[in-house]
Amino acid sequence: MYPEMVKPKVFITRQIPEKGIEMIKEYYDVEVWPEYTPPPREVLLEKVKDIDALVSLLTDKIDCELLDNAPRLRIVAQYAVGFDNIDLECATKKGVYVTNTPGVLTQSVAEFTWGLILAVTRRIVEADNFVRSGEWWNTKTGWHPLMLLGMELKGKTLGIIGMGRIGRTVAKIAKGFDVRILYYDVRPLPEEMEKELEAKYVDLDTLLKESDIVSVHVPLTPQTYHLIGERELKLMKKTAYIINTARGKVIDTQALIKALEEGWIAGAGLDVFEQEPLPPDNPLTKFKNVVLAPHIASATVEARTGMAELVAKNLIAFYKGEIPPTLVNKDVVKVRSPGFK
Ligand code: GLV
Ligand code: GLV
Repeated sequence: MYPEMVKPKVFITRQIPEKGIEMIKEYYDVEVWPEYTPPPREVLLEKVKDIDALVSLLTDKIDCELLDNAPRLRIVAQYAVGFDNIDLECATKKGVYVTNTPGVLTQSVAEFTWGLILAVTRRIVEADNFVRSGEWWNTKTGWHPLMLLGMELKGKTLGIIGMGRIGRTVAKIAKGFDVRILYYDVRPLPEEMEKELEAKYVDLDTLLKESDIVSVHVPLTPQTYHLIGERELKLMKKTAYIINTARGKVIDTQALIKALEEGWIAGAGLDVFEQEPLPPDNPLTKFKNVVLAPHIASATVEARTGMAELVAKNLIAFYKGEIPPTLVNKDVVKVRSPGFK
């Protein structure tokens, strides 16, 4: 252990809710990157040279080169549930613990998913623009039987791709809407859970063919990269919508643009993109039947505070020589024991 007065150094790559920082400060010497934008690569490469712990975001690339530059680094506590920005294999080899923040953001992301589902199927953003732009005023009628018609959810089929915590919570909320649930994942849920959620396991093609709404909840891995491409979008109903709150790279953007241009599907609700921020001239911005959000599905006070606390709990457990509660690379314990000994 460190002598009483010398705390291990942690660098936090962006301002996170204060509560987490306060907790971390009891055990660590904390430096927080003060800017809104991520630390540039050169800065991060320099910073990691003499830190013991790093709090990273999905916009920080934690690869082998960076880890090679960080001889004292023992733990990377990611402030996100996804960790596709981190080279796990390399971290494990080097004995660097990697943790993430599952669970605490599940409800917020699932609620936001429903927000996008409602926004696209009921054309809420389009309607808001219609009112603000004066188009409604120009129609000279307050109500019209055929104005801005959308799709009712009751009795429709929701296809969930990826039935982890978030996918399951989306399914749970679905009950209030009376939709049928199909799901696809690498393996089916335990029977109990399937029953409780009233969800039916099908293969991906069946899900795509039968769903009125397809919602993506898989992590980004080599296996899920462009999982949804031309072939998959063509399998969907022309009246169906696709929702993505997972990772942009799970859907082939060019294929999606083509699908929207040529009417293979009815619309999309997207919180994540292959390139973030999404350039304002990206073709996706021109479709009225697409609702766009800037990667904010977990952006609630509750979730973001919970994430900060969980990051702190991981760092504190590690400091105490305990296995962090949400360790991602579990094999790392064979390489090095937790703690700063
Ligand atoms: C955000 O995208 C996260 O992975 O938490
Ligand atoms: C995230 O919390 C997931 O496992 O779906």
